[in-house]
Amino acid sequence: MSFLTRRKPIDAAEVAEHHRLKPTLSWPHLIALGVGAIVGTGIYTLIGVGANLAGPGVLLSFVIAGAVCVCAALAYAEMATMMPAAGSAYTYSYSVLGEGLAWVVGWSLILEYTVVCGAVAVGWAGHAAEFIRAANMGVPEALLRGTLEGGVLNVPAVVICLVVTALLLVGTRESATVNIILVVVKVAALAVFVAIALPAFDSTHFTPFMPQGFSGVDETGAKVGVMAAASIIFFAFYGFDAVSTAAEETKNPGRNLTIGIIGSMAICTIIYMAVAAAAIGAIRVEDFAASSAPLVEVMNMLGHAGAAKIVAAAAVIALPTVIMAFMYGQSRIFFVMARDGLLPIGLAKVSARTGAPQTMTLITGVLAAVLAGTLPLGDIAAIANAGTLAAFVAVLVCMMILRRREPGRLRVFRTPAWPLVGVFGVVGCLYLFTTLPNTAIWGFFIWNGLGVAVYLLYGRRKSVLAASERA
Ligand code: ALA
Repeated sequence: MSFLTRRKPIDAAEVAEHHRLKPTLSWPHLIALGVGAIVGTGIYTLIGVGANLAGPGVLLSFVIAGAVCVCAALAYAEMATMMPAAGSAYTYSYSVLGEGLAWVVGWSLILEYTVVCGAVAVGWAGHAAEFIRAANMGVPEALLRGTLEGGVLNVPAVVICLVVTALLLVGTRESATVNIILVVVKVAALAVFVAIALPAFDSTHFTPFMPQGFSGVDETGAKVGVMAAASIIFFAFYGFDAVSTAAEETKNPGRNLTIGIIGSMAICTIIYMAVAAAAIGAIRVEDFAASSAPLVEVMNMLGHAGAAKIVAAAAVIALPTVIMAFMYGQSRIFFVMARDGLLPIGLAKVSARTGAPQTMTLITGVLAAVLAGTLPLGDIAAIANAGTLAAFVAVLVCMMILRRREPGRLRVFRTPAWPLVGVFGVVGCLYLFTTLPNTAIWGFFIWNGLGVAVYLLYGRRKSVLAASERA
C-alpha cells in the first residue's frame, strides 16, 4: 500500500480489555478536568490582544471561537471513545486518513503543544511581573519583555518554562485534587473580577461595537476585526481534549462525556463572556487592551488594588499547570509517533526512575523557553492555534469519514447531528485559519514543509506499519 494511504486497523488502537482503566469518573470530574485544562492565558491575557483587534466586538469573537470548538469537542469525544488509545488526533488520523496525513497531524501537534507552553508562559510572566514591579527589586523592564517586543528577554517566561520542565523531569504529575483546587482558584478569581467590575458597567463603552469591522485589514496590512480576534481567542478554548482522553475511565461515557465536554465548554464560554462583558463595560477597551495583565489593569483602574493582586496571584498559581499539561501531552504524542517508527525512538525513551521521557521533555522545555523569551504573546498564540486548527479539522473529518465508511461500528458516544456538526466545524476551523496573522499561516506551512522532508527521509522508511506490510 502507498505510504500516503497505509492505515492502521482501528482495532489496533483499541485497548485490550485487561489493559482498560477502571471506569471511575462521572460528569462532575470531567467538567473539572475540562475547565482545569481550558481556563488559562486565553482569558487572563489574550482577551487584551483580542480586544485590541476587535474592540467590544471581542464578545462576538468568543462566541464564534467557542461554537467551532464545541463541534471539534464532540468529534473528539466520538473518536476518543472508539479508540481510547494515546495519541489523540494523530492516532485517529492514522487509522482513518492514512500515514501521510497522520504524520502531518502529529507534526502539527508537536508544534502546537510546544508553542502553547511558550504562550502560557508569557501570560504567566505578565502576571508575575506585577509582583516583581511591586517588590521594587530594581528589575529592568527590558528583562520583563520579549526580544521582539521591545525588550531584551522575557526572563520570568523563560524561568517558568524551565521550572516546569525540571518538575516534569523529576517525575512530577498533577493530581486530581490539585486540579480541583486550581480550578477553584482560577474560577474564583474570575468571579471576584466580575463582581467588582460589573457595578461600574457603562453601556456606552460598547459603541462602536466593531470599530475595525468583522473581518478586514488595517493600514499596515495586518488582519483586524472580530474574526481576527476570534482566531486568536480560539486559544482560550482548547485543552478540552483532556476530557476526551479520559474516555476510557468514564462511567457511562455516552452520557457523562457529553455532559463533561459540552458542560465544560458551556461553563468556560459563560465565564469568558461574563469576564469580557464586565471588563469592557467597566473600562474602555483601549485603556486595558495593551496590558500584559489586562484583568489586573482593569481592577487597578477601578481602584481595587487588593482585587488586582488576587487576580494576578490566581494566574501565577494556576497557569503553570496548564504548561505542565501541554508539555506532558507533547511528550505523549512524540512517544506514540516514535513507537510507530516515524520518529527516532531514542528521543522518546522513558527514564526508568522517573517515568518521564527525559530527552523530549528537555527539548520541548528549551524550545518553549526560547519562544517565550523572545516573541510577543499574540504571535506565539497564533502559531499554536494554526497547529490546533489542523488537528481539529483532521478529527472532524475522521469522524465524518468513519460514519460513512463503518456506520455499523459500535460507538459509545455519538456526535448529535453529525453531518451538520462536522461540516460546520470544518468550515469554521478553515475560516479561523484564514483569519490568523499571515506570519502564523506561513510558520505553519514552513513547519509542515520541514515535516514532510523529515517524513520522506526518515519516517516513510522506518514506519513499523510499512515494515509489517513488507514482512
Ligand atoms: N486554553 C488554554 C489557555 O487559555 C490553552 O491557556
